[in-house]
Amino acid sequence: MTGTFRSGSEAQTRAMAAGLAAGLQPGAVLLISGDLGAGKTAFVRGLAEGLGLDPAEVTSPTFTLVHEYRGGRLPLLHVDLYRLETADLDEIGLDTDLAAEGVIAVEWPERLTRGVPGAIRVTIEDAGGDARIVRVSGEHEGHEGRTKHA
Ligand SMILES: Nc1ncnc2c1ncn2[C@@H]1O[C@H](COP(=O)(O)OP(=O)(O)OP(=O)(O)O)[C@@H](O)[C@H]1O
Ligand SMILES: [Mg+2]
Repeated sequence: MTGTFRSGSEAQTRAMAAGLAAGLQPGAVLLISGDLGAGKTAFVRGLAEGLGLDPAEVTSPTFTLVHEYRGGRLPLLHVDLYRLETADLDEIGLDTDLAAEGVIAVEWPERLTRGVPGAIRVTIEDAGGDARIVRVSGEHEGHEGRTKHA
């Protein structure tokens, strides 16, 4: 699902993400951009739902950089880089086996010092009230893409 979508509610954003999750392959990386409160974590809850995980367990990682959720179709690694100045996905202690088998969803990917080949980019823009513009691009080469660092 590459394209631009309009969401009118948190539930719609979640449903959109759940639909996207259904097509994800092991090793998929989603870079989720948007201002504070745009709905990035809401989007990750939708991903969890779509992977058969309990969305209620997905919280904003506060002092934990990475949250791992297992038990769904694919494991989900939820990464929030907000508190870091710069970061490198290969150096923040992701469980590499889990990362290869699962889906990595990154909030605040602007902190990354290098790109992630094959990543899916999601940007969420506040369009006033509960309206959001969600753009999805760069789908996706799964694990192959992620391991081929430039
Ligand atoms: N269409 C929408 N899609 C997503 N969230 C929405 C929408 N409309 C309203 N909201 C509200 O916006 C807030 C989004 O919060 P969320 O924690 O997901 O943002 P975030 O982008 O993760 O912020 P942060 O940068 O602080 O991590 C929630 O309170 C949610 O209910
Ligand atoms: Mg968040």
